[in-house]
Amino acid sequence: MKIAVIPGDGIGPEVVKQAIVVLEAVAQKFGHRFEFQEVLMGGAALDAVGVPLPDETLKVCLKSDAVLLGAVGGPKWDDLSGHLRPEAGLLGIRKGLNLFANLRPAKVFPQLKSASTLKEEVLGEGLDILVVRELTGDVYFGDKGRAEIPGGQKAWDTAVYSTHEVERVAHVAFKIARGRRRKVTSVDKANVLESSRLWREVVSRVGQQYPDVELNHMYVDNAAMQLIRNPSQFDVILTTNMFGDILSDEAAMLTGSLGMLPSASLGEGKLGLYEPVHGSAPDIAGQDKANPIATIMSAAMMLRYSFGLEQEAQAVEDAVSRVLEQGYRTADIATPGTIVVGTREMGHLIAQNL
Ligand code: NAI
Ligand code: MG
Repeated sequence: MKIAVIPGDGIGPEVVKQAIVVLEAVAQKFGHRFEFQEVLMGGAALDAVGVPLPDETLKVCLKSDAVLLGAVGGPKWDDLSGHLRPEAGLLGIRKGLNLFANLRPAKVFPQLKSASTLKEEVLGEGLDILVVRELTGDVYFGDKGRAEIPGGQKAWDTAVYSTHEVERVAHVAFKIARGRRRKVTSVDKANVLESSRLWREVVSRVGQQYPDVELNHMYVDNAAMQLIRNPSQFDVILTTNMFGDILSDEAAMLTGSLGMLPSASLGEGKLGLYEPVHGSAPDIAGQDKANPIATIMSAAMMLRYSFGLEQEAQAVEDAVSRVLEQGYRTADIATPGTIVVGTREMGHLIAQNL
């Protein structure tokens, strides 16, 4: 299995290195072969070749089975203009790989319950939500503009969805729900938005093809409330680009720690992009302080969604759980009585625990 690796900037290379250590341990334990090819993006690419996303990088990614990305950006490149900023690489690669479903799990490890902003009794037995956010449509990509009107200006953004766009992301959500607790909550604003009414119709129709998965619909304002009030009612949340942007951050913060949050972006085939939710953390870069768990959990998602290796993915997640159980923490998640370790040691402990 070919994996394109984009270490990126700041702590990116440090956390990606540990994800590779864990993937190599997986290969050895289960008898797989992963071939890693490193490519440039973001600030590192700007320094080397003057553009944030070299053609060569996209080419290598397209020929791979999966892409593992650290993070890009940093103060060094802050003064550059739009298309030459490191973040332009991120947008370019998501588009270039035709990714349309963004997966953001929010899972509270029992060992880290105290990091959550919610009371233990609200968190319940174990919070484990997966937000599936559509990435290519909605108000971000519809017609937008400005015009002069008497007394000032007007500005508009248009929310647009097509049947096809909703269908393909709905299939992703239902298929994934089958491997989880078999429940999809589709979130929209169908009481006022026409695009949401189409969304709801199409999701309901796709849902009929998955009679073994329970489907319910919820308005986004209620969903925002329910996530805080009773989060354990959710399994998979399927939603539009803009609502997903907001709800995925809300759900993620129920877990309380940026250094623990993985993500995946999927397209039509098996090729996916896997990256931690956090950025390049320039404040702690190069100090062996970064928490590599978000990237290691992203690698687990790669095993599950691009390679179909469920057992291996589970093994990585269990190894993370065990290391936390043993009391090891990186500085960002440390609490009194735990053992603080660096980036490298955390990676090696997880590999060992496999
Ligand atoms: P950030 O996520 O890099 O850092 C926010 C805070 O969380 C910092 O105090 C940082 O030290 C801490 N943190 C983040 N990840 C951590 C980890 N794994 N372990 C321990 N602590 C961690 O967000 P910030 O500071 O807003 O952005 C820094 C740079 O990263 C900017 O250039 C930004 O554009 C870029 N960025 C890139 C992203 C990406 O590549 N997907 C996403 C978000 C930001
Ligand atoms: Mg956001």
